[in-house]
Amino acid sequence: MTEPKYIHVSVAWPYANGDLHVGHLAGAYLPADIFARYHRLKGNHVLMVSGSDSHGTPISVEADKRGIPARQVFEHYHERFLLTQQKLGIGYDLFTHTDTENHHRVSQDFFLRLLENGCMYKESQKLMYSALEKRFLPDRYVEGECYLCHYKGARGDQCDNCGNLLEATQLINPRNRNNPTDALEVRESEHFFLDLGRFEPELLAYLDQHQSHWRQNVTRFSRNFIADGLHGRPITRDIDWGIEVPLPGWEVKKLYVWFEAVIGYFAASVEWAKNIGQPDAWKQWWYNPQSEIYNFIGKDNIPFHTVIWQAELMGVDGLYNGDEDCIGQRYDAHLQLPYDVPANEFMNIEGDKFSKSRNWAIWLPDLLERYQPDAIRYYVAATFPESADSDFAWDGFLNRVNGELLAAWGNLANRMLSFAYKRYDGHVPDVAVSDLTDDDRAMLEKSERGFEVVGDLLAAVKLREALVAAMSLVREANGYLDRRAPWKTIKENPADAAKAVYTVLRVIDNLKILLSPFLPFTSQKIHEFLGYDGQLFGDLSIVEYVESTRPHKGLVYDATKATGTWTVSALAPGQALREPAPLIVKLEPEIIERERAFIGAPREEHPIIV
Ligand code: MF3
Ligand code: ZN
Repeated sequence: MTEPKYIHVSVAWPYANGDLHVGHLAGAYLPADIFARYHRLKGNHVLMVSGSDSHGTPISVEADKRGIPARQVFEHYHERFLLTQQKLGIGYDLFTHTDTENHHRVSQDFFLRLLENGCMYKESQKLMYSALEKRFLPDRYVEGECYLCHYKGARGDQCDNCGNLLEATQLINPRNRNNPTDALEVRESEHFFLDLGRFEPELLAYLDQHQSHWRQNVTRFSRNFIADGLHGRPITRDIDWGIEVPLPGWEVKKLYVWFEAVIGYFAASVEWAKNIGQPDAWKQWWYNPQSEIYNFIGKDNIPFHTVIWQAELMGVDGLYNGDEDCIGQRYDAHLQLPYDVPANEFMNIEGDKFSKSRNWAIWLPDLLERYQPDAIRYYVAATFPESADSDFAWDGFLNRVNGELLAAWGNLANRMLSFAYKRYDGHVPDVAVSDLTDDDRAMLEKSERGFEVVGDLLAAVKLREALVAAMSLVREANGYLDRRAPWKTIKENPADAAKAVYTVLRVIDNLKILLSPFLPFTSQKIHEFLGYDGQLFGDLSIVEYVESTRPHKGLVYDATKATGTWTVSALAPGQALREPAPLIVKLEPEIIERERAFIGAPREEHPIIV
C-alpha cells in the first residue's frame, strides 16, 4: 500500500453576478469534482475549495444595472450557486465567498507581507476621472474607439473586436458608458504595484520544472506572457466595493479583485480548517512539500494562475508558518505552488460563443429543472474542452444520453439487476467462483484492469479519455452478455446461466466504481440495488457560519459517511439484492427544438428580493 497523498483541488471562483452556466461546469467545476472524487476513492486526503468571487467590476456593473447595492447582487447569486452545485453534486469541502472576515483578513495579511518583503512599490497612475460622478471610473465603465483596430465600441479594459487588452486612457474619444455626455478627464492616482519582474527567474524555473506534466497550451500561454515582459501590476483600485487596503490613509482605495480572489484558495483552506475545529489542518497541503495542488480553471484565467498567483505565493514566503502550530510533521518553509493548472478551453453553445448579453447560454438552474444531474454530468464530461473548444449541442445531448448513458450503461445495469432479482429470488446467483468459464474470467479481468487504466487517466487529468475507457468496458460487458445470453440458457443449462449472471453483476459492480466520479448519483443507486449498505461518497450540505459580525453560508462535503473505495469488486455469491428501478430517464426528440428555442431568447430571471 502506498501512503495516502495530500491533494488540493482549487477551483476558479465564479463572479457572483449571474447564474452559473454550462461553460462554468465544463471549464472548471465538473473536472475538479471528478478528479476530487477519484482521489477520495483512492484514499487520498483531498481538500477541494472555492467560493463566490464577490468583488470586482462585474458585480458593480450588475448592481448599477439593477439599481441595488453590490452586496445584494453577490448574496443573491451566492445562494443560488450553493443550491445549483449541491444539486449537481460538485463536492467542495468548502465553497465559501470572498466577503468573509477570514478572507478579508488573509488577503490583507498577504498584502502587508508582500509589502514588507519588498515585492511591491507605489506609483502614480493616469486614470479616467468622471467630473459628473466625482470618481475614477473603472476601466469597464469607459468606452470609446479602439486605438489598435479602430472599432468604435471598445471597452476601457479590452476590445471585443480585436481582443487586445487596452489602456482606458488611450481610447480615442473616451466616454462614460453610463453617461455619454459626461466630460472625462485624465487624472493621476497613486497605487500599489506587485513587482512581477523580480520573480522572472523563479517563474521560469517553476515552468521548466512542471512542463512535462502540464497541458501544452497552458505552458505555451504562460511562457508567452512572461516573454511579453513582466511589468508591475497595479493591485489597488479607486473603487468602493472591495477589500480595504490595510494602511492608514488608504481606506478609500480597495484591493484589486484578481489580487485577492486567487488568495481565496489559501484563505478558504484556512477557513475550512477553522470550521472543522483543527485550525492548523490546512498546513498539510500548503506547507507540505509532498502535497499536490491542482488549479481547475478556464483558459481565460491562465496568467492569473500560472504567473501572478505564483508570484504572490513566492512573495509572502513563510506566512503563518509558526513552528509552534505545526502538526507533528516537518513542513517546508515555503508555501506550496500549484503542481498542475489543467485549464480547459471554452464550451460553445450550438456552434456559437457564450454571451450573457445575448443570452447565448444554457443556465444550470434551468437545466436542473428538466434533466437528471448525471445526464448533465455525462454529456458535459463526454464533451470536455480539454484540448480544444467544444460544443454543447442539444442533438448531441439527446444522442449521448439515450444512446450511451441509457442504452449502454443504464440498461445493462437495470436489465441484469432486474433479471437476477426476479429469477434468483432477489439474490446474486450462488455460484462457486472457481467454476467460472474462461470467457467469464476474461471479462472479469478486463473490468478489473480498468481500475488501473481509468485510474491513471483520471490522475493525469485526462478526464474525457478516462470516460471513454470506462464506457468501452461497458460495451465489452454488453458484448459478453449477448454472447452468454443467460435469459436463453437459464432453461437448458441453469448452471451456466448462473455463472454468466454472477459474472456480469460483478462486472457491473466494478463499472459502478469506475464510473462513479462521473456519475455519483447513478453509482450510488446501483450500489444499493446490488445489496450494499452505506454511501460511496459523503453528503453535500449548506451550512451557516457566524464570524464575529456577520453570518455566511457555505457548501460543505461531509466525508465521514463515505465508504466507497477504488478497489475491485468482491461481490459475494448469494448476496441479497434490493429491488431495482430504472436509472436513466429516456429523452424525447421534442426536447431538441424546445431547448434550442430558449437559447438567445429573453430569459425570465429570478428577481432579487431586497
Ligand atoms: N471570478 C473570475 C472569473 O469568473 C475567476 C476568479 S478565479 C480566482 O473569471 F481564483 F481568482 F478566484
Ligand atoms: Zn480593437
